[in-house]
Amino acid sequence: MEKFVINGGGRLDGKVRVESAKNAVLPMLAGAILTSEDVVIKNCPKIRDVLVMIKILKSLGVKVKFETNDLIVNASGINGYIIPSDLCGELRSSVFLLGALLSRVKRAEMAFPGGCKIGERPIDIHIVALKYLGVDFFDISTKIVCSVKTLKGAKVCLAYPSVGATENLLLSSVLANGTTVIKNCAKEPEVKDLCSFLRSMGAKIFGEGTDTITVEGVKRLHGTVYTPIGDRIEAGTYFIATLINGGMVEISNCFPQNLLPLIDKFCYNTCKINTFNDIILITSKNKVKGFTVTTAPHPAFPTDLQAQVCALACVASGCSVITETVFENRFLHLPEMIRMGADAVFDGKRAVFNGVKSLHGANVFAKDLRGGAGLVLAGLGAEGKTVVNDAMHVNRGYYKLAEKLTSLGADIKLVRDRNTKECYEE
Ligand code: EPZ
Repeated sequence: MEKFVINGGGRLDGKVRVESAKNAVLPMLAGAILTSEDVVIKNCPKIRDVLVMIKILKSLGVKVKFETNDLIVNASGINGYIIPSDLCGELRSSVFLLGALLSRVKRAEMAFPGGCKIGERPIDIHIVALKYLGVDFFDISTKIVCSVKTLKGAKVCLAYPSVGATENLLLSSVLANGTTVIKNCAKEPEVKDLCSFLRSMGAKIFGEGTDTITVEGVKRLHGTVYTPIGDRIEAGTYFIATLINGGMVEISNCFPQNLLPLIDKFCYNTCKINTFNDIILITSKNKVKGFTVTTAPHPAFPTDLQAQVCALACVASGCSVITETVFENRFLHLPEMIRMGADAVFDGKRAVFNGVKSLHGANVFAKDLRGGAGLVLAGLGAEGKTVVNDAMHVNRGYYKLAEKLTSLGADIKLVRDRNTKECYEE
């Protein structure tokens, strides 16, 4: 068991550097099996999801090792196509190996992917898209069993701009025969970064960041040394923490462009935001005024920052309304925030807050990764002591969150019982 113990209050001041983006690195790890040569992912965060993905790769005969912070993957000896069920259940990103395995060994078998329980999260769009490329599915009832003779380029229009389905299609089309056109694709910065990564391996991809991506299949891909983009969600988390507690925080290794939905939302509120190169400087003295947020696919407000802005809405002055449109069960943190004194009502889709002067500390439970981060922020701004239990959800996606917040002046510790392994151990 791991938990965050937080004594709330006090400004946040200083500098913090974010890690490489979790949601960029995870599909890249699947992409690394598309060549027999070494793939080096620079500054790869040693977060729990990455460590599970490494275990999956090793189970397929792929060699993976860290050299300080760089991860070296060599898939020349890949000898498996079945992903162990227990590991599939641990993270959603195991699904990226469908596309990558079909490209590399022409078959794949896996249980349905796990991940945060923030909605049904079906993979129907992935499956329909892969069928267009010629993939045969033999079972999609209790597990996924599929194979392909030759992947063939096709025109595919996604029913929804799903991040994962777009990435799976990229991973399966880069080595296909002919050209694949992905319409209504996702435009998230992490999708763009996956395209840059695959291009650095020799793939021919055009149009990422727009509604249509075109992939011209190539015969082979080669190794690469690649530095992923900084984590905009981690950066957004420190940004929102500064709005809650007040202070002056410089966040580096994150292109402000990728955080525009957050910056645009608050730049006319009470804080001051400066940006240059890969740095965001945020200065906040007064309580944020009530606001509205509606999550939706990029370039709209990211669902992965919804829980964190809920923590902000709890203590903003006046009324705030937060609408979640991406996942149907992503307010798991709200009952916990209400136990901390939040004045909020919500249904599956919308939460309405009447900002209170301050939350009070409480014993609360993280139910998912970002919801847990939202509770940490609520605890940082609350009066008294907050314990956020089940911190392992948060450690799936944040590297040394407590240490980084402590360096900004927060009073927060990650406490684990004697039987729990250090969360960042391989
Ligand atoms: C990615 O999940 C991210 N995960 C999520 O981050 C993020 O919240 C999400 O994109 C949206 O930005 C990774 O990149 C590893 P989707 P993904 O497919 O790919 C429905 C975090 O905390 N849908 O765009 O699973 C789905 O149910 C995580 O870091 C289908 O109906 O997201 C959801 O309602 C959580 N059928 C919506 O689309 C499908 O086949 C968006 O899902 C696929 C998706």
